[in-house]
Amino acid sequence: MSEWQQQGARDAQAWIEWLDSGAWERLVDSTSAMIPALAVEVARIAQDPDVSPIRLTQVISKDPIMAANVVRLANSAFSASATTITSLSDAVVRVGTRAVRQLVTASCLTGQLRNPKTYGTAAREMVDHAIGTAYLGWLVADRVDEDSDAAFLCGLLHDIGKFVILKLAHADRPVPASMTEARLNQCIQSRHAGIGGRALTRWQFADEIRVPVTWHHDPAQAHGHLPQAAVLYAANRLAHRYGFGCTVDSDSPLDDPIFSKLGIDADFLAELDGKAPGLYEVARKIAA
Ligand SMILES: [Fe+2]
Ligand SMILES: [Fe+2]
Repeated sequence: MSEWQQQGARDAQAWIEWLDSGAWERLVDSTSAMIPALAVEVARIAQDPDVSPIRLTQVISKDPIMAANVVRLANSAFSASATTITSLSDAVVRVGTRAVRQLVTASCLTGQLRNPKTYGTAAREMVDHAIGTAYLGWLVADRVDEDSDAAFLCGLLHDIGKFVILKLAHADRPVPASMTEARLNQCIQSRHAGIGGRALTRWQFADEIRVPVTWHHDPAQAHGHLPQAAVLYAANRLAHRYGFGCTVDSDSPLDDPIFSKLGIDADFLAELDGKAPGLYEVARKIAA
């Protein structure tokens, strides 16, 4: 290895060590553009299962794009009705507060993350993957009697660590020229869950979200939040089964001991196979 190749390797290693040191946390604070404070606030209101349709309509009506998206949802295949709806309040009633709350949460939390300049060319697909995993988390949680709103939010945020690392690498603390794409990807793969968990702590998300996100690839480590982490793990695996924003994994998840522990059987899987892809297509188009 030549002198300059050795220097390049040291520079790349130093960047990874900087990431591991946690010194990036301050940068994530000052550049809260990842998830704007207002969006977090709206998402928080939308997360309340007891929010009234009137309150929800009030919150949404402050954002014309969001309002238009809710009306689109009401007129989409999701609601299967012949009459066209034009008002936001009618749309909320037709679709139901739950579906509206999910859409609002998904739009708020992913709105800034599609920017290819900050997050690279795969950003759009990564957001689609987050939305697909959120809906699968909701369906799985519903089935196994876990909190489906929390599972939805966990699904949306499960790979947020990938976005954090990409934003640092592309914008806040650019990686050295010697960092190959393969090395950066390897770094993202091995560290995104832990980094995502740390970012969520910084942003004051509750443990019931932060812990499952941190352990979504290794739910047995999620002490105190094992079932929620297992639901998130399953949702992510299912997103890969259907190729939601990622390549298709054709291995059967029924052989996975975490699926059997959750009680996910062939019947439920067949039900998901029928329902999930259609739901995903509607959701990803409208939340965009
Ligand atoms: Fe992940
Ligand atoms: Fe994932």
